[in-house]
Amino acid sequence: MTLLCVPLVAKTVEQMMADMAAAKARGADLVEIRLDHLSDFEPRRDLPLLVGDRPLPVLVTYRPKWEGGEYEGDDKQRFEALCLAMELGAEYVDVELKVADDFVRLISGKKPDNFKLIVSSHNYQSTPSSEELSSLVARIQAAGADIVKIATTAVDIVDVTRMFQVIVHCQVPMIGLVMGERGLISRLLCPKFGGYLTFGTLGVGKESAPGQPTISDLLNVYNIRQIGADTKIFGIVGKPVGHSKSPVLLNAAFKSVGLDAVYVPLLVDDLVNFLNAYSSTDFAGFSCTIPHKEAAVGCCDKVDPIAKSIGAVNTIIRRPSDGKLIGYNTDYVGAISAIEDGIRGSQGVGKETVSPLAGKVFVIIGAGGAGKALAYGAKEKGAKVVIANRTYERARELANLIGGHALTLAELETFHPEDGMILANTTSIGMQPNVNGTPIRKQALGSYSVVFDAVYTPRATRLLREAEESGATVVSGLEMFIRQAMGQFELFTNLTAPENLMRDTVMRYT
Ligand SMILES: NC(=O)c1ccc[n+]([C@@H]2O[C@H](COP(=O)([O-])OP(=O)(O)OC[C@H]3O[C@@H](n4cnc5c(N)ncnc54)[C@H](OP(=O)(O)O)[C@@H]3O)[C@@H](O)[C@H]2O)c1
Repeated sequence: MTLLCVPLVAKTVEQMMADMAAAKARGADLVEIRLDHLSDFEPRRDLPLLVGDRPLPVLVTYRPKWEGGEYEGDDKQRFEALCLAMELGAEYVDVELKVADDFVRLISGKKPDNFKLIVSSHNYQSTPSSEELSSLVARIQAAGADIVKIATTAVDIVDVTRMFQVIVHCQVPMIGLVMGERGLISRLLCPKFGGYLTFGTLGVGKESAPGQPTISDLLNVYNIRQIGADTKIFGIVGKPVGHSKSPVLLNAAFKSVGLDAVYVPLLVDDLVNFLNAYSSTDFAGFSCTIPHKEAAVGCCDKVDPIAKSIGAVNTIIRRPSDGKLIGYNTDYVGAISAIEDGIRGSQGVGKETVSPLAGKVFVIIGAGGAGKALAYGAKEKGAKVVIANRTYERARELANLIGGHALTLAELETFHPEDGMILANTTSIGMQPNVNGTPIRKQALGSYSVVFDAVYTPRATRLLREAEESGATVVSGLEMFIRQAMGQFELFTNLTAPENLMRDTVMRYT
């Protein structure tokens, strides 16, 4: 079982003690006491409190500046403090590989039975090759480590595969973590690959290394206690990806049907490299978001005909029978059904055979993945489709493809062939953190009776607020988000999506 460790980086002993109690209350298995973060540390005064009164097992670390910590003094005093922590009953002490020989000599013959020495190595620039990592493990083992710790930095998410490989093959307990946002899955998937422990913070700003998630997310979003060797991995591939609510939603849905699966954010720079590196059947399916939806079409072995027509894939599944990647698009149904139901709701009519989009001028801002899905869908429903895009050439290409009309963003401001048009924003304008952005001036909104915004963080974008003030029916991107996610869940699992749970979860977290 992978242990959950909360790093304690408070400046005072009192705050550290309070944080230790909080870590226990949140469900941690142990805490890491970072002595180098204390501003006025006096070993004989403070360690009996910190270690003697511990409510949880403790790992004691006194990290020097030269290994990325805060301690600037000499090793003699540092080692004395670590020895004292051991004598007071600390379950673990961490020392750096560079000085491990000296420390091991110092504690030789004095190690209590339940005490474990962690020997660590940190690389804040990159992740070395598999061979270099394996030789590092061997050197750390040879130095006398009970537990090997290697922390490297992810320049690309592909780097993490090397750490997973090394952990799986390590003969002694190993902590193998890859720092930075691109390394996040090394922290989330520890129990799958057999990592000895992973760090979860008490909150944002309480990290001891870059990329640590909160313990609350580890337990309540990623359900880390349920992850094991057989757990299937799904995830959202994008850049950026940190804002996505898909992990919250899909993990809650997986849990509600008792599926042994986890859904993680995957910050991917190069989709081809990513798919080549994560090619095992354990990586069972992916959602694709900005900017990978169009590239995903070319990365799949087979693409569903609708996704092919749209030219964008937002869902990839790895077919269990032969491992082939199959691409789908659930944005199309998600967005179009949300807009149709929004119009029907505002008119108080039920589901008829004719779509309320039929015959309407349907203006789409944006010609990326989401824009293509909406353009294809609106055309299918009989609308007169108009595409406006920052890069006019892309608007023209899409309009030619589906049989529509193209505009520049400047032309859009005065475009008014008729009243009662439908407008859909499919650019990221207005998305957090740039919430004051809007893709069209308020004065131009009077021509539209229905306005949809694919952006769903924030829930009420500036575009939707101004559209409502102008008298339009508004349809939130959240509705598209829920529906496309239900479609993805069904493709990933072959089960009916738990709609009520997914709606409740989205409302709670957005
Ligand atoms: N609600 C949902 O379920 C859902 C689903 C999918 C997507 N979305 C949202 O839809 C948005 C687009 O996603 P996507 O996957 O279609 O992305 P994409 O393929 O990268 O396309 C982005 C589009 O936005 C345009 N754009 C980006 N920044 C712009 C700016 N500053 N000014 C003007 N135009 C700009 C791009 O124009 P150029 O061609 O000129 O680059 C392009 O047309 C994102 O905010 C995403 O979160 C929501």
